[in-house]
Amino acid sequence: MTLDPIFANVDRYIGGLFVEEDEALTGVENSLVDAGMPQISVTPTEGKLLHLLARLRGATKILEVGTLGAYSTIWMARALPALGRMISIEADAAYARVARANLERAGVQDRVTVRVGRGLDVLPEIVEEGLGPFDMTFIDADKPPYVEYFAWALRLSRPGTLIVADNVIREGAVLDPDTSDQMVAGARRFNAALAAEKRVSAVVLQTVGAKGHDGMALAVVL
Ligand code: SAH
Ligand code: DHB
Ligand code: MG
Repeated sequence: MTLDPIFANVDRYIGGLFVEEDEALTGVENSLVDAGMPQISVTPTEGKLLHLLARLRGATKILEVGTLGAYSTIWMARALPALGRMISIEADAAYARVARANLERAGVQDRVTVRVGRGLDVLPEIVEEGLGPFDMTFIDADKPPYVEYFAWALRLSRPGTLIVADNVIREGAVLDPDTSDQMVAGARRFNAALAAEKRVSAVVLQTVGAKGHDGMALAVVL
């Protein structure tokens, strides 16, 4: 199903009013093209939203699963105070190199560590190393293990921690209980687990805009 262009046009209108992208942020999108990486960063509007959520949370420690070129990472890192710290986990070593260059250009390299490895391998290390709890966690890596990422995010939380997860609606494909798409199935399992989890209060917002129809889950740890 193609989305009515009104949604992308309104997203650009909102971006024009509320989102200032500097060279570092526009440079991320160019770096993705140059390196042949997928252009699946959050949109500028969503980047600004993540930034505002981190500010609202007063976050000093942020965790991200799925770095890509560090577009979302830069938005959240720029919400941190001077002594704030962020860890972003990326499975692909070549992507992590592109991300580190982008973080440097954004001037946030001292605040952000990109850890290379699969989320399900690195998250237990982060627990072991005592790096939690985090004030905010953004889940945006491969979709099939979203429930497991959420369980680790909970372990790395304290009361008040904000957990955000991207891509949980997939153009409405999550309505189909018999889907054969593993990304959609992962999002469905995650949404059900999130709704059933008594330790959080949560909701999902559908998103429409420059990158189509999807959704973001927001949860606060009780
Ligand atoms: N958060 C980024 C977009 C992330 S795209 C932004 O909005 O700017 C998803 C990323 O997750 C990709 O870079 C992909 O390589 C990475 N990824 C895929 N499987 C992973 C895994 N098992 N562990 C960690 N990262 C993974
Ligand atoms: C995909 C992954 C994402 O994190 C995203 O924001 C959009 C698409 C994907 O793998 O298709
Ligand atoms: Mg995403």
